[in-house]
Parts: sequence; structure tokens; C-alpha cells
Amino acid sequence: MQLINTKKDLKTYLEGLSESTSVGLVPTMGALHSGHISLVERAVRENHVTIVSIFVNPTQFNNQEDLEKYPNTLEADISLLSSVTENLLIFAPSAAEMYSDKISSKSYNFEGLEHVMEGEFRPGHFDGVGTIVEKLLRLVSPHRAYFGEKDFQQLQIIKKLVRITDIDVEIVGCPIVREPNGLAMSSRNERLSKDQRKEAGFIYQTLKAAKKEFGTKSADYVMDWVRKEFETHPDLKLEYIKIADVDQLQAVTTKNNSQEYRAFIAVYIGDVRLIDNIAL
Ligand code: PAJ
Repeated sequence: MQLINTKKDLKTYLEGLSESTSVGLVPTMGALHSGHISLVERAVRENHVTIVSIFVNPTQFNNQEDLEKYPNTLEADISLLSSVTENLLIFAPSAAEMYSDKISSKSYNFEGLEHVMEGEFRPGHFDGVGTIVEKLLRLVSPHRAYFGEKDFQQLQIIKKLVRITDIDVEIVGCPIVREPNGLAMSSRNERLSKDQRKEAGFIYQTLKAAKKEFGTKSADYVMDWVRKEFETHPDLKLEYIKIADVDQLQAVTTKNNSQEYRAFIAVYIGDVRLIDNIAL
């Protein structure tokens, strides 16, 4: 296990690798849990060297309070990662290291993917994500980079990012890891009380039921049904439910059998915002 904090040291490390060494990159913001670990394990299986970046990226937070409350658990993260394998490099830079001149994001055109759902409710979020992921991909030049389907819109945007910036890397999407009650694992779950965590299982239960309904009903019907379900759980504030195609993330007008769809959801419990999605 090696911990590196600067771009210079990272460069020296990468220069020491032979041409034939495959490199896998797992970008994270720390506060690691089993969801992150599943990505790391996959990267370790598929590459000679795995680099896990830990960086709470300020430019992707549209809400200052959310950034301030974001957990910072570097020591625990390092020990969790070393329990997976000793053969890892952790890159944990400071904000000054990643944004030398000015903490700001580039402006991207992700061809519409950035305007819906998370993009609509978190303005500027995907410019921040694109900026940091582009920086990391250019620094590391990995053969493969791993992202979770938990943030499915982010995954699709990163696939678009590498296409529009012509970065040569394989983007690997990994399935959502859940708690026993179905709640998608998230660093934000740490901020839920025991009761809230239990209640949050309702999100996935409802998504699963929606999947069943979508077998015979229209997208509009299913989304209305989900909205009504959440009315019976006033502690869970539904921000959006959307059924969209997986490629353009556009709302379904008429169902097409050759197209794959997903249901996407964002819910507040107290001041904690959770997102989830399910393949339909
Ligand atoms: P973070 O929220 O730390 O997530 C890092 C990676 O872990 C993302 O690809 C995310 O989709 C994946 N992940 C999180 N929870 C998961 C779960 N329950 N199951 C499977 N994968 C899961 O996403 C970010 O950080 C940032 O936006 C980042 C890409 C690092 C850019 O700053």
C-alpha cells in the first residue's frame, strides 16, 4: 500500500511502471464503503496496478453545506483499502494540488445528459464532476476506470466525457451494492439515524415494485404511482422520479422493446439527499 499526495510523486510512480503494466483507476471522494470496495476489487482483478483516488471535489458541490458536511475519514479509508489488498496506490491530493490556479470547473456540453435529473436539481454538478474526472484521467492515463451504476447518470456522462475529449480509456460500469434492506450504499447514509436508515429501505422497495408495474403499465402511470406511494411516507420527501432510456436519459414517450429503460429517484430524509435507480 502506497499513499501519494502530489501530482509529482504520482508521475514518478507511473514512470516507474513498465509499458506492459495495465493500470485501473477508481476515483472516489472517500468515506469508503462496500460499494466503493466492489469497484476496487474489480479493478484489482482486471489490472496489474490499481490506483484509488480519494478527493472530495469542491467544484461538484452546488451546496456549500453539503461540501462542509461531507465525511472525511482518510485513516479509516486507508485501513479498509489495505484489508482488500496491499497492492494498491492511494492518491489523496489536496484541493490546491488538483486546482493549482483557481477552484473552478470547465464548462462541458454533454449533449443533453447534463440537463436532466441530477443536472436539473444540482446546477453545475456535472461540470465539476467532468473537470475532476478529466484531470484524473489525464494524470493517471489508466487503461480502465471504474464507476458505479449507483450514479448512473454520472457513469453515462463520463462515457460521453471520454468520447468528446478523446481520452483513450475503457470506462467500466459496476452494479449497485446495497444494504440488507435494499438501501443503496452511500457515504451519505452515515448521516442517517438508525430509524431513518431503516425507513430508507422503502426507496428500493418502491423501485422494485415500480419495475413490476412497468411490465404492463405506461411510464406516466408508474411515475404517478410512485409519487402516491411516497405520500404515505411523509418522512421521505420525493424530489423526483423519472423513467428514462439508458442512452439519452430522456423521458419515455412510447415504450420501445428494443430500448433499455431505468427508473431514477432522488429522495430527502431530513436534510440528507439520497439517489437510487433500477434497470426496468
Ligand atoms: P463517490 O460518491 O465517492 O463514489 C465513487 C464511486 O463509487 C462512484 O463511481 C460511485 O458510483 C461508486 N459507488 C458509490 N456507491 C456505490 C454503491 N452503493 N454501489 C456501487 N458503486 C457505488 O462519485 C463520486 O464519488 C465522485 O463524483 C467522483 C466520480 C469521484 C468525482 O469526484
